[in-house]
Amino acid sequence: MENARVEAVTSHDLDLIERLTELEQSEFDDYALSQWLVTSFIQYGRTFALFLDDEPIGVAVYWRNWHPSNNVYLATISVREDLRGQGLGKFFLEETLKHLGEDEVVKVRLTVDPGNTAAINLYFDHFGFKPVKFQPHEYGQGEHRLVMELDLRALLRNGIEAAQVESNAE
Ligand SMILES: CC(C)(COP(=O)(O)OP(=O)(O)OC[C@H]1O[C@@H](n2cnc3c(N)ncnc32)[C@H](O)[C@@H]1OP(=O)(O)O)[C@@H](O)C(=O)NCCC(=O)NCCS
Repeated sequence: MENARVEAVTSHDLDLIERLTELEQSEFDDYALSQWLVTSFIQYGRTFALFLDDEPIGVAVYWRNWHPSNNVYLATISVREDLRGQGLGKFFLEETLKHLGEDEVVKVRLTVDPGNTAAINLYFDHFGFKPVKFQPHEYGQGEHRLVMELDLRALLRNGIEAAQVESNAE
């Protein structure tokens, strides 16, 4: 991963915002973040970009919970389609979680399409996200979601390698 890096996006860089929005829209169609939302979440959420050789190839956005405010929700994460399966998604998620740890985040929650094996394996096998709830028809008829949750403090305390061993043993 020596030519890959992850940055928290905190300033209004229009070119980067356009590139991140394109990545979102090429992946998520109806659910994709618009340029307006990417801009808003840079200011009022936590937005991360994954770069490979200085090229933005991934985007992740977290929202902070209202109450309790030290929990966050992973709203979106993706890696450019032609670059998947090389460890970049794992690297990206790991780096973003380390950033969240510096912000005193306690729990990370997300929802995922129950058929999205790649994402579920990434969350469960490598980081120890636990399935906590199945929400039928969450996003409309037939659009079910699996809710998963991570104890971030435990992950960062025990190390990511330990989470992998633990998940694989279950
Ligand atoms: C989920 C996603 C970010 C993973 O990125 P990636 O760069 O392909 O992931 P990695 O190469 O780092 O793989 C990490 C782990 O993910 C899982 N994984 C990745 N691709 C997989 C696949 N095709 N089938 C099964 N598991 C897979 C594996 O556990 C893998 O670890 P392993 O290589 O030790 O088996 C990527 O597939 C993606 O952008 N998907 C579309 C967007 C999306 O669905 N986001 C999640 C929304 S909730």
